[in-house]
Amino acid sequence: MTGTLKKMFSRKITPNLEIRLSLPQYADEIFAVTDSNRSFLREWLPWLDSVNKSDDTRNFIREQLHRFARGEAIHVTIFSEGAVAGVAGYNEIDSVNGIGYIGYWLAEKYNGKGIMTRVVLDLITIARDDLKLQKVDIRCATENTRSRAIPERLGFTHEGTLRRAERVYDEWLDHEVYALLLT
Ligand SMILES: CC(C)(COP(=O)(O)OP(=O)(O)OC[C@H]1O[C@@H](n2cnc3c(N)ncnc32)[C@H](O)[C@@H]1OP(=O)(O)O)[C@@H](O)C(=O)NCCC(=O)NCCS
Repeated sequence: MTGTLKKMFSRKITPNLEIRLSLPQYADEIFAVTDSNRSFLREWLPWLDSVNKSDDTRNFIREQLHRFARGEAIHVTIFSEGAVAGVAGYNEIDSVNGIGYIGYWLAEKYNGKGIMTRVVLDLITIARDDLKLQKVDIRCATENTRSRAIPERLGFTHEGTLRRAERVYDEWLDHEVYALLLT
């Protein structure tokens, strides 16, 4: 990776923690992290069975870059001490209504260090300063206490529960909706 490419979109959050706009060049490493965390991620993420090779990750990143170019989404890769730790971003940017919908996952070994809370805080800064959104939304499965702790820690308001919002393998999950108003 050349310095120029890195600078396209790279934000240092702490000396050891950085987010970068996800590029196809990261696909091999992101896929390797996905593959070695399959059982951990499967508990809450519905797409593991459709990601079986690096090219699946590469195609997903390419699609996210197209969406980024259209202002519809931002997909970032999280680097901890230079290694891929997970991903995060705005799964959807509703520019008509000024709302960004955040999503995230982290490899198991990077859990419990406050990484995602810091990353989400930086995504909120991007929403406020660069995207000029008025609202940030995070939706977590009701039983996903680790995920729910992030918006709760950051002062989001719990807006309600969406029943059977997502099918994760054979189970329907309810979602808790959290939101932060920026203006
Ligand atoms: C949900 C998930 C992203 C949480 O990641 P995380 O980095 O562990 O979350 P946080 O940043 O909030 O870290 C909080 C933990 O770090 C600890 N921590 C250490 N330093 C901290 C700091 N400076 N600030 C905040 N927390 C800190 C906290 O005590 C807490 O530990 P605990 O879980 O033992 O109470 C991760 O578990 C995950 O990817 N899960 C699977 C996929 C998933 O559920 N995605 C979300 C779908 S909605």
